[in-house]
Amino acid sequence: MKSFKGTVLVAGATGRTGAWIIKRLQSHHLDYHLFVRTGKKALELFGPEIIDKLTIGSIENPQEIIAALHHADAVICAIGGNVTDPSSAPPSAIDRDGVIRLATLAKAQGVKKFILISSLAVTRENHPLNKYGQVLTMKLEGENEVRKLFSDQGFSYTILRPGGLIEGPPLQHSLIFDTGDKIETGSIPRSDLAEIAVLSLFTPEAHNITFELIMGEPANQSSLIKFFKKITD
Ligand SMILES: NC(=O)c1ccc[n+]([C@@H]2O[C@H](COP(=O)([O-])OP(=O)(O)OC[C@H]3O[C@@H](n4cnc5c(N)ncnc54)[C@H](OP(=O)(O)O)[C@@H]3O)[C@@H](O)[C@H]2O)c1
Repeated sequence: MKSFKGTVLVAGATGRTGAWIIKRLQSHHLDYHLFVRTGKKALELFGPEIIDKLTIGSIENPQEIIAALHHADAVICAIGGNVTDPSSAPPSAIDRDGVIRLATLAKAQGVKKFILISSLAVTRENHPLNKYGQVLTMKLEGENEVRKLFSDQGFSYTILRPGGLIEGPPLQHSLIFDTGDKIETGSIPRSDLAEIAVLSLFTPEAHNITFELIMGEPANQSSLIKFFKKITD
């Protein structure tokens, strides 16, 4: 039996977290569609079998987003602007306006569940990362709109605020979840973040919640679902 019925649109599927989200959706045998800027990169990462699951476009282009949303019952957004490259669009265009555009169009197209990868420390205006185009504040403004749109009756959101993202396989650490942006610092493998994003599709504790997540001690995990129970403890 499927744990989520329908197709999950992964925005930013060729990013480092996005690619893990695709792998974790595959491992849960869930249906997915990819919204990416470059088909070539997607084919290199996932092979020719995903060719029918691709929509090419930018989060800056409403028509391209709508084309991708034809394949979506839920959205997981793992898009993030490149703050260190001055030739890239700024966080205001991607992490705020792009996320707001995607969420608004998703709701209008009848998508019921929106999962957003945000960041630890988004509520801390004086955080050093905010020197880069106010990226944390832009992410918070994106979050605010997702919460507003998807808390209506019949809709649902989950906002994940990870610590610093690192490489490595999933299910090798305990996780620490918290709310209220109180965790000072920490890191988490992108693979575990991706697994939590996928579990958020069908885990009741993930319904309409915003939470921070970092890794704890090394320890093999058979599932990460138990860590959701601790949010509401
Ligand atoms: N890095 C960290 O330590 C850290 C910490 C906390 C939170 N985060 C957040 O976690 C998320 C994932 O981070 P990551 O490091 O895994 O990301 P990443 O590897 O930098 O990937 C970002 C993705 O966004 C896509 N993208 C950028 N601009 C786009 C646009 N205009 N239209 C469509 N797609 C666009 C990129 O497309 P291409 O594949 O074509 O480049 C890429 O797939 C981001 O929101 C990031 O801000 C990161």
